[in-house]
Amino acid sequence: MKRLYFIGIFALLTITTIFIWSKSYYAQQEEAYVQLAVEKGVALIPSEKGVFERSEFANDYGTMRDDYKGGRTLETYYDNRAFHGAPPSIPHPIVNELTMGDKSCLKCHENGGYVAKFKAFTPVVPHPEKVNCRQCHVPQKTKGLFRPTNGKGFPTPSINNEAFVGGPPVIPHQIQLHENCLACHAGPSAPVEIRVLHPERSNCRQCHVLNNKEMTDIGDFIR
Ligand code: HEC
Ligand code: HEC
Ligand code: HEC
Ligand code: HEC
Repeated sequence: MKRLYFIGIFALLTITTIFIWSKSYYAQQEEAYVQLAVEKGVALIPSEKGVFERSEFANDYGTMRDDYKGGRTLETYYDNRAFHGAPPSIPHPIVNELTMGDKSCLKCHENGGYVAKFKAFTPVVPHPEKVNCRQCHVPQKTKGLFRPTNGKGFPTPSINNEAFVGGPPVIPHQIQLHENCLACHAGPSAPVEIRVLHPERSNCRQCHVLNNKEMTDIGDFIR
């Protein structure tokens, strides 16, 4: 009886040894791999990510700039706005009166370009995600005033405020609705005074800081 018992234990131990050994033998033969951490994407600061929205076109803007020196000025830019920050009116006919916007506007305004029938470069929309364009932009019915006025109008932010010659000018306007810098500042549709000479320096706000108070001359800044 005792002998049978020992033979049983011996057989069990042998089987277990073979089992464990073969498991580890086959495990050795598997290819090694390192489990990669799942990518979660880069956390972006919502108010700052717009800065890069059109940076993929930066080099194209650079060549466009060399090809084209003309274009509208800040004065004509403001002719089409009731005041600084107001939505500009639509200065051209709309093909389909029933459209609210979206693709029928974005086909031209998403990336801009020359339109022969309007004899102008299309301003690039800084907010292509707001698809109901005509909620805010109304067609221009007349270029005249309803009633003549001698009011002076609202002041517009002044440009060329830099701390020293050759320094980066401050951003004279708010950032809200102005996140997408290159849409307004680059390419042939940008007003000539503010058409940026360095569209390829993508991180605009690295060098250009916000102006917290409207400066009229550099003396204000030093005081
Ligand atoms: C065929 C191309 C084309 C289509 C389609 C088009 N636009 Fe335009 N848009 C232009 C061009 C070109 C200009 C510049 C006109 C000028 O400077 O005289 C312009 C100017 C504008 C402006 C004035 C921008 C400024 O900075 O003063 C607004 C606003 C505008 N369009 C809105 C719209 C809306 C809204 C739609 C859709 C209902 C639309 N556009 C469809 C080509 C187009
Ligand atoms: C919620 C209101 C609103 C909607 C919707 C909207 N816009 Fe605007 N848009 C504005 C305002 C306000 C400005 C003026 C921004 C400024 O100068 O501060 C503007 C400016 C513009 C400009 C001129 C950019 C420049 O150079 O100053 C164009 C072009 C334009 N919008 C086209 C469009 C198109 C095309 C759509 C539809 C895809 C659209 N907008 C939807 C409010 C809106
Ligand atoms: C909706 C169009 C628009 C957008 C978007 C926009 N700007 Fe401007 N920017 C202007 C206009 C117009 C001026 C001229 C002053 C004025 O009228 O506000 C200007 C002026 C400036 C100036 C002063 C230039 C000088 O010569 O003194 C700087 C710097 C500037 N912007 C930087 C930026 C940066 C950085 C961004 C992105 C965070 C930006 N802008 C987005 C329209 C825009
Ligand atoms: C590395 C720093 C730096 C970065 C990044 C930068 N700028 Fe500038 N920017 C400057 C300096 C410096 C000047 C003054 C240029 C001069 O006087 O030669 C300037 C001038 C300007 C002007 C006045 C017109 C001109 O070109 O002289 C505008 C508008 C402007 N920058 C917009 C922008 C925009 C939009 C971006 C992002 C695409 C940007 N900047 C990125 C340093 C920078």
